[in-house]
Amino acid sequence: MQQNAAPGPGEWAEFKKKIQKSSTLKDLETIEQELFGRKSGAMTLAMKELKNLSPEERKDKAKELNEQKQSLVDHLEKLKDELIKPDSAMLVKSDSIDATLDLPKKEQGHLHLVHEFTRQVEETFGRMGFDVARGPEIESEEMNFNKLNVPEDHPARDAQDTFWIKSNKKGKDRLVLRTHTSPVQIRYMETHEPPFRAIFPGKVYRKDADATHSPMFHQFEGLMIGENVTLANMKAVMITAIRELIAKDTQFRFRTAFFPFVEPGLEVDMKWKGDDKTKEGEWLEVVGCGMVHPNVLRNCNIDPDKWQGFAFGFGIDRMVMIKHRIPSIKSLFPGDVRFLRQF
Ligand code: PHE
Repeated sequence: MQQNAAPGPGEWAEFKKKIQKSSTLKDLETIEQELFGRKSGAMTLAMKELKNLSPEERKDKAKELNEQKQSLVDHLEKLKDELIKPDSAMLVKSDSIDATLDLPKKEQGHLHLVHEFTRQVEETFGRMGFDVARGPEIESEEMNFNKLNVPEDHPARDAQDTFWIKSNKKGKDRLVLRTHTSPVQIRYMETHEPPFRAIFPGKVYRKDADATHSPMFHQFEGLMIGENVTLANMKAVMITAIRELIAKDTQFRFRTAFFPFVEPGLEVDMKWKGDDKTKEGEWLEVVGCGMVHPNVLRNCNIDPDKWQGFAFGFGIDRMVMIKHRIPSIKSLFPGDVRFLRQF
């Protein structure tokens, strides 16, 4: 009679089926309680019944119950593992990326107008076969003036126009913030054998400030030396550069001008419409250029009877002002994104 009260193998099999059918951890917990609950779990009760059996019967029954118990626990654990392991359907829900979702645009910056333009300059002249080199912004008086044939009494050497740097250097070694990129011509000629063509972009400094002048601004110098390089070659290079860098229909004019390091010397003006009210626009001086003076070639140990060529210096900021119709050079340097975002 007592034997009949204890669950038989059929009942354990029912529990196993129930376990298999469970789809949540909560279901499994309920079954676990039904089997192993301390007070009324089926297995707990069956184990308690053992003490009412005769010693022989008890031994066999205990063995059978222990096997069933182990098998039920194995089933439970296995299913628990499966339910805990995220299946692919769950992953799709929680980890998926919706490539069609329309997110707010991330703000993307761009190079500053001056640097963007400088890269275009390097590309444009690169296509014409020009190398790119750079020189220091702190120069000696020798490099910035003397070797460029600038006379002792030239006003550019004046403390009113040039930033001189305090140091214990004397004479031609005195230091200045370079007033133009022309000293890089000297550095390049002293270290290269002609023929060559190169440009030298960078910052320059002058004591000047208004709508079209800034105490720091950008230039790119150019130099082309060969046996038969002429003023006509120079004009062709200038015109190509202006049209490519600003616009095909940019208005410009060549004027004669004086620079001690060229002979003859020219200047190029371009039409600047910085202000919408002045429809006509006004001429802005943008380039100084000319045939390299024989004294300059000699100063760099290049024989002027064999070699000749041209040099030029473009004002980068002014070209940017013309290209983008910017009314004041001062807008270019504070780094105000409200200004920069417009381009
Ligand atoms: N260095 C001159 C300037 O800054 C420009 C220039 C360069 C003129 C080369 C002639 C030749 O004004």
